[in-house]
Amino acid sequence: MFKGNTLSSLTYSIRGFDHCELYVGNAKQTAHYYRTTMGFQPIAYRGLETGSRDRVSYVLNQDHINLVITSPLEKNTDIGAHIDRHGDGIKDVAFTVDDSESAWKTSLERGAKSAMEPREIKDDNGEAVVSAIETFGDTIHSFIERKNYNGSFLPGFEKDDLELESVSTGLVHIDHVVGNQPDGEMQSVCNFYEKIFGWHRFWSVDDKDINTEYSALRSIVMANDNEIIKMPINEPADGLKKSQIQEFIDYYETGGVQHLALSTRDIIPTVRMMRANGVDFLPTPRSYYEKLTKRIGPIQEDIETLAELGILVDVDENGYMLQIFTKPLQDRPTLFFEIIQRKGSNSFGKGNFKALFESIEREQEKRGNL
Ligand code: FE2
Repeated sequence: MFKGNTLSSLTYSIRGFDHCELYVGNAKQTAHYYRTTMGFQPIAYRGLETGSRDRVSYVLNQDHINLVITSPLEKNTDIGAHIDRHGDGIKDVAFTVDDSESAWKTSLERGAKSAMEPREIKDDNGEAVVSAIETFGDTIHSFIERKNYNGSFLPGFEKDDLELESVSTGLVHIDHVVGNQPDGEMQSVCNFYEKIFGWHRFWSVDDKDINTEYSALRSIVMANDNEIIKMPINEPADGLKKSQIQEFIDYYETGGVQHLALSTRDIIPTVRMMRANGVDFLPTPRSYYEKLTKRIGPIQEDIETLAELGILVDVDENGYMLQIFTKPLQDRPTLFFEIIQRKGSNSFGKGNFKALFESIEREQEKRGNL
């Protein structure tokens, strides 16, 4: 359907994930958590000291991953309202683009709603153009265009001078960003990505594939042309008890980002460090590893080490992948992270869903939400 030139120009102008911005109640302490437990390095800051009167933001970096952690500095702000409604969560999944104004204009022509008109921002380090559109729930996609910009993040931010040296845990880039939707809204959100960005359906599962005793979901992975950007879109499906997706919606109130999957080149030391630093991961039962070799065939990693760390493995026709999921990263059972290492496989761990969902359900049960 959308094979015209205009579409291609927008499709190719999105280069990848630029950053994710979280709105949280206490940015200083949240930034400290991601720095000390996951090894993110503070690189830029805005706040009262830099002339930002209404909000404070810490920019954290690890290799190609940038997180912006933002809190309001006054009452009655949009940020405060977002936190009140959703709890701490991801407001913005921002993309790096060649031309922010044309990405924004083309998106609006195709039916997207503006979240911010294009504006040029400048400081001594150069200039950038930023704009944004709305997507599911209260989430937005910013289009970030940096023109000859040499600063640490964007105009308006100052280089972080805390001189805190973080120890990297080996995280490299954002593999995928997952959006949970209320029941019945998955297809319309996927249609939005097809229509606005010209993305395609990369992979999907229905409730027959992902159905434990209680929890079921449907998922479609949307991807851009070169498949650098992948966004799985989930919705709950009926099961005996409450779907984990429904639990998210109950606490987030609207569609929102459920998890960020961050890649590593070597998952064993990454997870070992994160565990030692205090990250809580979902536990995997011993029985999972007893059947593992039979299910996936030979792999390079020592199964005993994977069992000790709780790392899951799945295989497809192209290779295998290793993955593990954190518990929720804030008090509401909403956002969590996945750590993933791909060894050929491009899949999303369908073979792990049963073990994973049973683990999630044990946590849901503890929270009284199953
Ligand atoms: Fe994932």
